[in-house]
Amino acid sequence: MHATIVVSNPVRGSLTQAIARKVSEGLVASCDRHSFEIVDLAAEGFDPRFTARDAAVLLREADPSPEVVAEQARLDRSDALALVYPVYWWSMPALMKGWIDRVFTNGWAYDDRPGRGIVKKLGRLPVHLIAIGGAGRRTYDRHGYAEAMKAQIEHGIFDYCGAPVASSNLLLLSDEGAPDALLDKARAIGEAMFAARLADCA
Ligand SMILES: Cc1cc2nc3c(=O)[nH]c(=O)nc-3n(C[C@H](O)[C@H](O)[C@H](O)COP(=O)(O)O)c2cc1C
Repeated sequence: MHATIVVSNPVRGSLTQAIARKVSEGLVASCDRHSFEIVDLAAEGFDPRFTARDAAVLLREADPSPEVVAEQARLDRSDALALVYPVYWWSMPALMKGWIDRVFTNGWAYDDRPGRGIVKKLGRLPVHLIAIGGAGRRTYDRHGYAEAMKAQIEHGIFDYCGAPVASSNLLLLSDEGAPDALLDKARAIGEAMFAARLADCA
């Protein structure tokens, strides 16, 4: 089984980057036949700006550009997708949001044709969300930020495309034992990612 782990933080030594590596460690520890690719959006220079061509793709008047097709191909050969990102302004960073804006196209992630409604196309791609935040759990609860992120990201993006959200994790710097406990949690997320497919490993 193969996982794509997309990470959005430009700093190599950041906790976000360390957590992405821990997820991959857990994944291969659970079965040495599992494989992964870490897609470091900042290091790869992914351009998150939605272009006129992207707008034409939305209207099905143009084919996606090569960089978008390359990202879709990565996901086509993946059995799971993990997104690892710091919370910026109670959502995901613009770099990762732009990656979704451009890559999750009409025609690939879903089909929206006049008179036919929405056809969800990503039912085969389980998604694991790993958000890392600086604020405390009470702040998230008091203002409903966790619920807002759930509605926007889990329901608004992934359910729209039919991709099941297999796990959703909000790791907070204020959590007890952070950062080590957060790194342990990330490793456990990786270990559990293909737990249902351990028979494939025997
Ligand atoms: C532009 C920006 C916006 C941020 N907004 C939030 C926020 O809305 N909520 C929150 O909990 N933390 C917020 N933070 C804190 C980051 O989530 C935190 O610094 C990060 O998760 C730490 O991980 P890192 O070492 O990978 O950067 C923000 C940080 C930045 C730089």
